[in-house]
Amino acid sequence: MQDMVIAKWDSSEEIPYELLLLADESRQMVDDYFPRGECFIGRLPDSTMVGLYVLLKTRPATFEILNIAVDEQFQGMGYGRKLLRHAIERAKELGGSTVEIGTGNSGIGQLALYQKCGFRIVGVDSGFFLKHYPQPIVENGIPCVDMVRLRLEL
Ligand SMILES: CC(C)(COP(=O)(O)OP(=O)(O)OC[C@H]1O[C@@H](n2cnc3c(N)ncnc32)[C@H](O)[C@@H]1OP(=O)(O)O)[C@@H](O)C(=O)NCCC(=O)NCCS
Repeated sequence: MQDMVIAKWDSSEEIPYELLLLADESRQMVDDYFPRGECFIGRLPDSTMVGLYVLLKTRPATFEILNIAVDEQFQGMGYGRKLLRHAIERAKELGGSTVEIGTGNSGIGQLALYQKCGFRIVGVDSGFFLKHYPQPIVENGIPCVDMVRLRLEL
């Protein structure tokens, strides 16, 4: 794993849709939350974009990670964990005491990563993906239907 520098996206840069849509296939949802949140991008020393996350304050002292993605060629190398830790530290820096994240019931790897980083399952938004996503989503051979909500108390 090469060093990754994580820096805040600024509006002079293009919106990194390719990575954003990897984690969330709804462009409409991405366009809704991206301008409201803070996006941080991880890059290699040669500027190659490795991954990103989007953090949004949703309630007093509560932040939600709305999108976290690592380019496919760099997955499984520890970058996602590094981005997640950075997002947690950023939420702390902004006065947060709770960080939330949601993932589909079919997101086996995501559920593993989030729980390894201390997040606990606090609820299930049943039928979330049927309600909000027009196309059926299948991941790991499992229909993605319900949103599993996880929380980390800082
Ligand atoms: C989810 C994602 C961000 C993770 O990033 P990554 O760089 O691949 O993840 P990492 O290599 O840092 O770490 C993954 C961790 O989860 C664990 N993991 C992944 N799949 C697992 C599985 N099926 N069972 C057990 N552990 C698993 C890995 O072992 C690793 O833990 P470790 O550090 O203790 O070894 C990345 O795979 C991704 O971008 N996926 C597509 C977009 C997406 O689905 N985003 C999330 C939307 S909710």
